[in-house]
Amino acid sequence: MAETARMRSSTRLSSTGMAAPSTKTVAPGRLPVLGHAIPLRRRPLEFLAALPAHGDLVEIRLGPQRAYLACHPELVRHVLLDPRTYDKGGPLFDKVRPLVGNGLFTSAWAEHRLQRRLVQPAFHSSRTASYAAVMCEEIDAVLGSWQEGRAIDLGATLHALTVRVTTRTLFSTTIGGRAVADVQQCLPIILRGIYRRMTAPVGLLERVPTPENRRFEQARTRLRAVIDETVQGCRLSGADNGDLLSILVGAQDEESGERFTDEEIRDQVMTLLIAGTETTASVLAWTFHLLSRHPEVEQQLQDEADRILDGRLPAFADLPALDYARRVVTETLRLYPPAWLLSRIVTVETELCGQKLKPGTAVLFSPYVLGRDPDSFSDPDRFDPDRWLPERASSVPRGAMVPFGAGSRKCVGDTFGLAEAILALAAVSTRWQLRPVPGTTIRPKPEAALGTGPLRMLPEPRRFGAGSGGTNP
Ligand code: HEM
Repeated sequence: MAETARMRSSTRLSSTGMAAPSTKTVAPGRLPVLGHAIPLRRRPLEFLAALPAHGDLVEIRLGPQRAYLACHPELVRHVLLDPRTYDKGGPLFDKVRPLVGNGLFTSAWAEHRLQRRLVQPAFHSSRTASYAAVMCEEIDAVLGSWQEGRAIDLGATLHALTVRVTTRTLFSTTIGGRAVADVQQCLPIILRGIYRRMTAPVGLLERVPTPENRRFEQARTRLRAVIDETVQGCRLSGADNGDLLSILVGAQDEESGERFTDEEIRDQVMTLLIAGTETTASVLAWTFHLLSRHPEVEQQLQDEADRILDGRLPAFADLPALDYARRVVTETLRLYPPAWLLSRIVTVETELCGQKLKPGTAVLFSPYVLGRDPDSFSDPDRFDPDRWLPERASSVPRGAMVPFGAGSRKCVGDTFGLAEAILALAAVSTRWQLRPVPGTTIRPKPEAALGTGPLRMLPEPRRFGAGSGGTNP
């Protein structure tokens, strides 16, 4: 392995067993005026993944602005566990807030604490069994629609699946039956439009009334109306329909007695729809892609599914036993974390790794870069689900595996997303194996989530019991 700046200058061991963070530097290849804007835009994953070799905290220039990528797991933990100093905010959030509202994901520290207290109960473990029942129904419907030898666009299929699951768990069928179809139609248009607006260097093109911009505005107006109607329906019914929305509508803070207004509920619903769909769909897409390239892992998954499920579809109660499926999803999250780059903004003058940071400075971290760092993971490019066996996982430095973030801003839907992914994986493993359509090349697409791009797959039926000792077709 090449000697890195980090290895050269850090000899003191930290509590994680790694060398303590100590080196800071400027990323190489800076151009006058543009700084590192070109490689960051053209090949962000390659550019970012090369930076830990240069230091623990690496300065990047985006035009005249300085941002810092925290490459050392301890620095990342430090940032995540101090959400007052390293808050959500900055130009990117200023662009996103008018589009998605000031919900849990985008709100700043001061508003976030109350919001989180009100939303958290919707994700309490006591609700998960009923959400899982919706997941299983929807997964069953998808699998029932597959036909041997008929290629599917797996990315689109998984996206439609997660949209239906999130919408149906947000809005029970009694009040939100129609909303599901509307959300399914509007959300992909909105997600695409938000990503374009987030990454556009200037905000002018989005104001031109092109057909695409008109579609975006129409979809946004429609979705807002659908959410508002459903919230009204929920308020009028006054009952707990067992869905997420009932919790949001009924939520009252014990400390202050505060409740969400209708507009705040709309912001939270938009947030959950956006944060909860593409993320889970993309981790599932990567999982099936990796399985099609790793038959030995696929075989073990099928063995587990046969042993635990005995030919039936999985249910909520099976989740604790689906150990290998959980390790496969975790390993996929290490290699292809949907949230591949995240940012914080410094709110008061502070120091990180010996670098003075002024208020307004952006600090970035990348679960993708952290997950591939050879200082944290041996043979990091290898897809090895068993690295998450308890005896091996205990040696992973804290802060190195943060696909759901950490601290008070940690993903509120982590158990929900994991349950959905594990149930879908186990269900497919009982009935089907997916093979890539010949000629398909997959490259990571780092957009709002780290996607696979078009993923055409051929479903092949499995014969039950084909795994250990059975007859594999
Ligand atoms: C595998 C799937 C998922 C992944 C990888 C993921 C990843 C993340 C990450 C990394 C964050 C923290 C962002 C930061 O620190 O800046 C986050 C936050 C969040 N996620 Fe997820 N997420 C997933 C699924 C879900 C689901 C299913 C939902 C809801 C149904 C959801 C809702 C949210 C919300 C509301 C936040 C903001 C939390 C806060 O700031 O309090 N996510 N997610």
